[in-house]
Amino acid sequence: MRRNSTSGWPGLQSAADTKSVTGDHPAILKLVTLLGMPRTDDDTWDLASSVGATATMVAAGRARATKAGLIEDPFAEPLVRAVGIDFFTRWAAGELNSAEVDIPDHLWGMQPITDILAVRTRYIDGFVFDAAAAGIRQAVILASGLDARGYRLSWPTGMTVFEIDQPQVLEFKAATLAALGAEPTVELRAVPIDLRHDWPAALSATGFDAGRPTAWIAEGLFAFLPPEAQDRLLDNITALSAAGSRLMVEIFWNSPQAQQIMQAATQKWYEHGLDVELDNLGYPGRRNDVAAHLDQRGWSTVRTLASQLLADAGLPVPPRTDSEVSLADIYYCTAVLGAL
Ligand SMILES: C[S@@+](CC[C@H](N)C(=O)[O-])C[C@H]1O[C@@H](n2cnc3c(N)ncnc32)[C@H](O)[C@@H]1O
Repeated sequence: MRRNSTSGWPGLQSAADTKSVTGDHPAILKLVTLLGMPRTDDDTWDLASSVGATATMVAAGRARATKAGLIEDPFAEPLVRAVGIDFFTRWAAGELNSAEVDIPDHLWGMQPITDILAVRTRYIDGFVFDAAAAGIRQAVILASGLDARGYRLSWPTGMTVFEIDQPQVLEFKAATLAALGAEPTVELRAVPIDLRHDWPAALSATGFDAGRPTAWIAEGLFAFLPPEAQDRLLDNITALSAAGSRLMVEIFWNSPQAQQIMQAATQKWYEHGLDVELDNLGYPGRRNDVAAHLDQRGWSTVRTLASQLLADAGLPVPPRTDSEVSLADIYYCTAVLGAL
C-alpha cells in the first residue's frame, strides 16, 4: 500500500496514519471496492476515510486549481499533505498527470474536478462577499471539510463564522492550520456534530443568533445525505433564518448513471495507487429538488449551472454522454429568504 508514513508537518500525525482504512492487502481492497461499503445511519469518519476522504479529494482539486492560477487557496495543499492519502498528496502537489490517471474525455476525473473546484470556489467566495456587502454578519458553513475560507478570506469586522462537520474533521483541520502558523481571519467557531443529528441545538449552544440574518453555505454536502435528511436540513435552516438570510447549496449528481461514471473514474485511480474507497458513499434515489423545496418555504431562488460557470470561465465543458449525464445536472442554488 502506498501512503506517506507521516504528515510531513512536525508534531502532526496524519489522519491516514491514525486509522487503518479499507484493508491493507490489495485483494481485500479490491473486494471491498467491488462489494461497496454501504453507509449506516451513525457512521463517522476522519479525513482519510469514507465521506471524509472526499473532503481531502476536493481540497486536492483546490490545490491544483491554485497551482493553475485559477483560485488562491494557499492552505489546500498543506492540508491535503497533512491528511496523508498519498494519491491525493501527489494530486495536490501537481505530480500526477491527467493523461495518466483520467479516462480520456470522461466527465469525471482529476482534471474535471480541478475545473469544477475552481469555478465553484470562485462562485461561493462571491456569494460570501455579496452577503457581507449586504450587511450579513453571521455565516454557517455546513460540512466545511477542509474549506479554509475562515483563514483565507478577508471578512468584515463583526463577522462570526460557524463551521459544522464531523468532530475528527474539524479537529484535524484546526490543529493542522495552527501547526502551520495560520490564524483565522474571522471569529471562527467549530460546531462538531453530525448533520443527521440535532445540529441546530449544537449551533445555538456555540452562540448562533437565529434573530440575525445568516449566510448559509452547503458545498459538496447534499449527495452524502439521505433524501429525507436533505429535506430536514433545509427545513431546519429555514426555521433558523431571519428575513434577509441567504443560502447557497450545491446540487450534485445523484443518478445511477452518474454513480457509474464516477466509479469508472475512481477505478482508474485505484489502479494508480488510491487506497481509500470512494464508491457508494452517496444516497442515490429520488429526492426533492432543492430550489423547488425552498421556493415553497419563502425563499427566492436562482439556479446557476456548473456548465455555465465553466463556460463563463473559459474552461472546458464536457459534453453530455450517451447515458444523458451532464455537468448541466450539477447546479448551484442561491436563495434569499423573504425577497420578492
Ligand atoms: C465533498 S466534502 C466537501 C467539504 C467542503 N464543503 C468543501 O467543499 O471543501 C463533504 C463533506 O461533508 C461532510 N459531511 C457529509 N455528511 C455529513 C454529516 N452527516 N455530518 C457532518 N458532516 C458531513 C464530510 O465530513 C465532508 O467534510
